Amino acid sequence: MKAANRVVVTGGAGFIGSNLVDRLLAEGYAVDVVDDLSTGSLLNLHEARTQGEGKFSFFQASVNGDEFQEIISVRQPKYIFHLAAQADVRKSMADPVYDAEVNLLGSIRVLDAARCNSVQKVIYAASGGTLYGELPANRDSFVESDRGELPDSFYGISKALVLDYLDGYRKVFDLEYSALALGNVYGPRQDPNGEAGVVSIFFSKMRQGQPTTIFGDGRQTRDFVFVDDVVDAFVRALDSGGGLVMNVASNVATSVLTLHKLQSELSNYHQEPIFSPARSGELMHSRLDNTLARVHLGWEPWTPLEDGLKRTLAYFKATLG
Ligand SMILES: NC(=O)c1ccc[n+]([C@@H]2O[C@H](COP(=O)([O-])OP(=O)(O)OC[C@H]3O[C@@H](n4cnc5c(N)ncnc54)[C@H](O)[C@@H]3O)[C@@H](O)[C@H]2O)c1
Repeated sequence: MKAANRVVVTGGAGFIGSNLVDRLLAEGYAVDVVDDLSTGSLLNLHEARTQGEGKFSFFQASVNGDEFQEIISVRQPKYIFHLAAQADVRKSMADPVYDAEVNLLGSIRVLDAARCNSVQKVIYAASGGTLYGELPANRDSFVESDRGELPDSFYGISKALVLDYLDGYRKVFDLEYSALALGNVYGPRQDPNGEAGVVSIFFSKMRQGQPTTIFGDGRQTRDFVFVDDVVDAFVRALDSGGGLVMNVASNVATSVLTLHKLQSELSNYHQEPIFSPARSGELMHSRLDNTLARVHLGWEPWTPLEDGLKRTLAYFKATLG
């Protein structure tokens, strides 16, 4: 028997997943997290774990294992938010097999568990930053239909191929989905020791009075979107935006130099950044049009960058001292 308000969040111990879990619990959903803790942490679920009996459960398991199928068949969620991923671009280049096992095969297993257990909808965290490639000089931002050639990294490829499987499962098995192509997400709980997450890396260094490094000349731009706004889009996608890939981003291009300046001012940090050669394969410009998410989800990137940075800094102060 399907529980009316039960959801599963794969990757729920990670940065975005754990923020989503807190929001879902606040909205009254019963939340099961499946996470193998390969990069996530139980510390991120500190608040969730204080919930009363029956509201929150944690399963340390891989989406690739038989146990995952068992969890879905026993728990019978109505919805699955699929965020579990190997999210490190460089790791995908060093070990494409592992990347595909987690991001492609793992995702197909999630879809298969969903269709075998009559899950109503799967909501997938796609990667807007790797989906479209380099922004042409004559364009301001990418729209979803710009998806064309395969992305440059194996991470980009595996994340993009899942979109075809989502379409396939919808056509063949009637499994509904929404895919949110996320910009550069930042906010509380982003791991400053990861490869991505320039905001958390800068704040962490600045808090410790350590030098910061900018790869390239710092004029490369990114489309930063605050994690609470991303979480809001996921929740809205529970009952809207079926069968669509939608960019979830601010549609504002911010250069790394501007970001560094803003973060320095907020942190009272006075050191100049060290400039290192640009990393190969890194995009110069990335900016995503968010009209589809606005229209279909009624979504907005509600949080201006400066407000989001202040809230992220407050988190760093509270957790790192
Ligand atoms: N952070 C961003 O800016 C961004 C941008 C675009 C897309 N995304 C996507 O959003 C999702 C969440 O990203 P994040 O930044 O929170 O990363 P994260 O690394 O913090 O979260 C990923 C979580 O998945 C878990 N996981 C990894 N392999 C697993 C497996 N085989 N089985 C179960 N759990 C597993 C990890 O332990 C971790 O908790 C990912 O799918 C990522 O590709 C993130």
